[in-house]
Formats: sequence, C-alpha cells, structure tokens
Amino acid sequence: MSSKQDNVVWHDGHVTLAEREHLLGQHGRTLWLTGLSAAGKSTLAFALEKALLARGRACYVLDGDNVRHGLNRNLGFSAEDRAENIRRIAEVARLMNDAGLIVISAFISPYRADRHSARTIVGTDAFREIFVSTSLATCEARDPKGMYGKARSGQITQFTGISAPYEAPEAPDLILDTAELSIEESVARLVDLVEHDGLTPV
Ligand SMILES: Nc1ncnc2c1ncn2[C@@H]1O[C@H](COP(=O)(O)OP(=O)(O)OP(=O)(O)O)[C@@H](O)[C@H]1O
Ligand SMILES: [Mg+2]
Repeated sequence: MSSKQDNVVWHDGHVTLAEREHLLGQHGRTLWLTGLSAAGKSTLAFALEKALLARGRACYVLDGDNVRHGLNRNLGFSAEDRAENIRRIAEVARLMNDAGLIVISAFISPYRADRHSARTIVGTDAFREIFVSTSLATCEARDPKGMYGKARSGQITQFTGISAPYEAPEAPDLILDTAELSIEESVARLVDLVEHDGLTPV
C-alpha cells in the first residue's frame, strides 16, 4: 500500500542538535503532565514555566485547551480524536525538543496507549511522565470550569472520570497530589526533576 510519504524525502540541516543545545545550555526535554480535569496540570505547567524561565531555562507550555483552540481545533473527545490530539502534540513537542526547548505539556491524556505513543514519538530519553494524581473527589469539588457539573447532568459526554475512563500511569517519573502539595511545593519538585535528573547540564 502506498503512503502519502512515498515522495517525501527528509532534508538534513547544517546545524546539529548538540550545537543548538550548546547555544541554549540545556537539553531539550518533554515533561508530560497527565491527570484528571482540574487536577492542576495547567496551573503547575505555567507556574513551572515561570520558575524555569527565572532560572534561565528556555521552555514552553503546550496546554490542552490552548492547543484545541488552534492546531487541534478540528478534533473532538472520542477515543480516536483523543489519540490524534496526543499524536500531534507529541510531534510538536519533539520538534520543540529538537530546537533545544524544554516542553511542559498539560493534557489529560487519559489513555496509557496514547501516552506510550507520545513517549515513542518524543523519544524515551527525552520524555518524563508526571502524574498529577489529585483525586476525582477533589477535582470535582474544585470544578473551576463547571465541567464536572455539566458532565454529571449529561450536558457534556465523554468526560474523563465521569463518563470516560482515566488510566493512571503505572511508573511515572514523579507523582504530585495537589490536594497535599501547595503550588509552590509541586513546582519545587518539578524544578528539582529538571535540574537534577540529568535533564539539563549544570
Ligand atoms: N495545590 C494546588 N495546586 C494546583 N492547583 C490548585 C491547588 N490548589 C487549588 N488549585 C486549583 O485547582 C484548579 C486546577 O485547575 P487547572 O486548570 O490547573 O487543572 P487542569 O488539570 O489543567 O484541568 P483541565 O484538564 O480541565 O485543563 C485551579 O483552579 C487551581 O487554582
Ligand atoms: Mg488545563
């Protein structure tokens, strides 16, 4: 079977990843935050971005809602569309890592298989999985966007945790329960991960 890629040939550039990373003084990496809606992924991602920037790290947040406004605006919430959503995000993260950036992604990404694909696309060495493990009860009590209320009353379907599954990570690199940790405490643990697990050269 022919593919759309048959007549597309990869063109190598003249600058290596090592040269780009040397320029920035860091390795491009992807911190993949996963967890229920209202678990705190966006809150932590943007707080981490600010903290890392203050430390001289070049980073960028890929956020669920924001990406669905643009790149993935044609996708819904079926399992198939969620898989395509994650695939595109992972490809973007890979490009950004290749540019030397630290990517912080904040997507529910409820399916293990999709996160596994994201890891494969980004590359295992560059990928770190962070489970924002805040319980459904806490997330539902927060309900900052009123989504759980709508999901319970059936106004929204396929809502993760209510009418669609969430498959928790089996071996995440870091677990953050925001019912137990303040934003500052979670960000400190994330900064620690970035600075001390070999993500970035000292
Ligand atoms: N310790 C905490 N850490 C993070 N967020 C907290 C904490 N305590 C309370 N919150 C609140 O919890 C909410 C988390 O919402 P946020 O939008 O970050 O979740 P999300 O995981 O990105 O959800 P979604 O998947 O719907 O985008 C915010 O209103 C935030 O202020
Ligand atoms: Mg969010």
